[in-house]
This record gives sequence, structure tokens and C-alpha cells, in this order.
Amino acid sequence: MAVLVTGGAGYIGSHTVAELLARGEEVVIVDSLETGHRTSVLGGALHVGDIRDKAFLEGVFGQHDIDAVIHFAAYSLVGESMQNPAKYYDNNVHGTLVLLQVMQQFGVKRIVFSSTAATYGEPERTPIEETAKTNPTNVYGETKLTMERMMRWFDETHSLKYVALRYFNAAGAHESGLIGEDHCPETHLVPIVLQTALGKRDEIAVFGNDYPTEDGTCIRDYIHVSDLADAHLLAVDYLRQDGESDVFNLGSGNGFSVLDVIHTAERVTGLSIPTVIRERRAGDPAVLIASADKAKSILGWKPKRENMEIIIQSAWRWHQAHPNGYVE
Ligand code: UFG
Repeated sequence: MAVLVTGGAGYIGSHTVAELLARGEEVVIVDSLETGHRTSVLGGALHVGDIRDKAFLEGVFGQHDIDAVIHFAAYSLVGESMQNPAKYYDNNVHGTLVLLQVMQQFGVKRIVFSSTAATYGEPERTPIEETAKTNPTNVYGETKLTMERMMRWFDETHSLKYVALRYFNAAGAHESGLIGEDHCPETHLVPIVLQTALGKRDEIAVFGNDYPTEDGTCIRDYIHVSDLADAHLLAVDYLRQDGESDVFNLGSGNGFSVLDVIHTAERVTGLSIPTVIRERRAGDPAVLIASADKAKSILGWKPKRENMEIIIQSAWRWHQAHPNGYVE
């Protein structure tokens, strides 16, 4: 049986494909390559196309014996989602609907879903548990929550079993150095910090230093992308063992401020990273830290790279070897 990975040429998707291949799974990848990179797919059968294209998806499901889907394909820029909500509803929500319809048509009953801490919005308590209120503060988070809810109703009505994994801040790169983080435009902290270290940018803008945190900059929970990938494999196993549909946070439970990340990057790279303080970025909560106890106890997830140095070292190896990202 094969695992279908939608968005398998994206950042977290490609790292998950690498782990699936490493444990000998048959892997089928669907990616439009709009934001993904062909060379980030280290193996498996890649089908280039859009998940909103039903005939295309039917062709893929018809060609392979798929027993589980890992669904990453989505737009994921918070700022852009506030400029263009329709783009996000169309690809994320409509795209997922088409995928679920085709899964139903082919009798595929297991899906692991790439969700986000953005489903919670501004947290009332830290660390955030899965029982916390979901109240997204941006369209991106709202579409991801809507996608989770669609799956819940497909479960109620058609016994589709899903695991929604709500990530906190994914960072780092694969230990092989072959794949890493390359977004266009890049908006994420760790790659921007390392591009600044490489001299690709003049400086890193710190968005606000007047938050109610120790150094005044926002605190996030950074988790290594390969630890995230491992959790997807465990979620596939859980569903293959007839686990019930559920939602899990994936984070380290540790918070690092923006300045902590920059200072760690300076230590790891041995370079000084020019920093300027700018206005707050709209919609940034001061502190986002996960409780990932549920994923640990139910899925048996054991993050192995829970340390900011390890995360930045792995990302640095990727950025040094690929200063211009994937060149295709
Ligand atoms: N930051 C800067 N300067 C930059 C880029 C980021 O100061 O140039 C700060 C941000 O303001 C934030 C922190 O660094 O405080 C982390 O920012 P990222 O953009 O790397 O990540 P976010 O926490 O904003 O977003 C991540 C995911 C989103 C998800 C969100 C909430 O990338 O997909 O967490 O879970 F929606």
C-alpha cells in the first residue's frame, strides 16, 4: 500500500517524504510545484498537478494502491491570507473538499492533516493544550480550522479517520543537507536570520521589542522539521491501527524569543548578524508555546532534536550549501 503526500515538494512535506522513504514506504506525491520544489522530492512517484483538479486526482488514486493520505498542500502565508482571503478559501478549503471527495470515491479512509497553532489565535493560557479555545485571528488559521472541521463531518458521516497535527514553528533542515527551507517570498524567522548571516540580506528586522516578554520580543516554540516529519509517520501508524480521529499539538514546549534565536544563530555561525528593531507585525501574539504531551502519550512521539543549537546548525548547513535555495 502507498501513502499519498499532497504538497510533498514543500518544506515540511519533503522532509516527511524523506522519512517515509527511509522506512521503506511506497510514496506517491502530488504537488502543483507552485510553491514546492521538484528537487526537494528525494524519491517516490511525483505527480505534478493541483488538488482542485478532480480528474487529475482521480487519475492518481486510480494508478496507485493508496491506503493513507498526508495532506500538506495549502497556502500558508498569514499576511497574504489577510490581503486575499478568496485565494486561501479556494486552495485550502475547496482543495481539501475535492481531495476528501476523491478519497471517498476510492474508499481511502485515513488522512493525516497539516494544521497549525494559528487555529488557536491569541492564547488564553500557556502552554496551549488541544482543549484550548480555537479562535483564529487570521484567514490562514481560519481556513485550516475549517479544513479540520470538514474532516470531522466526513468522519461522522463516512467514517473517514483523520489526525490533525497543529504545528507550532517548524525550523531546521534534514540531516543529509539535501533538503531544507526555501520559501519565496521568505517570511520565516530562522531562514531570514541565516540569509542575513550569509550576507544575502543587510540586516534582520525584529518586529517589535515592546511585548510583555523578558527581552520584549515575541516568544515562539520552534520544533525541528524532521521531528515534525516523524510525528506524521506515527500518525499514519496510529490510523492504520484503527485509532480514532483526533487533534494533536506538535511543539517542543520551550519558548525562544526572536533575540534568543538571533543570538543562537550568531553563536552557531560565528558571524555577527546585524539587527534593527521595527514596528510590531500585525497579528503576532506575544507568546505561543505548545503542550505536546498528548502527541507524546497517544502517538508515542519523541522529538529527538529539541534544542535551538541543533535546529540552527541543521538549517545553517542547508543555507551554506544552498545560498540561493533550490536552483531549478
Ligand atoms: N520575525 C521577525 N522578523 C522577521 C520574521 C519574523 O521579528 O523578519 C518574528 C515574528 O514577528 C515572530 C517570530 O519572528 O514573532 C516568528 O515569526 P515567523 O514568521 O517565523 O513565524 P510565525 O510565528 O509568525 O508563524 C508560524 C507559522 C505560521 C503559523 C504561525 C502560528 O509560520 O504558518 O506560526 O502558528 F500560522
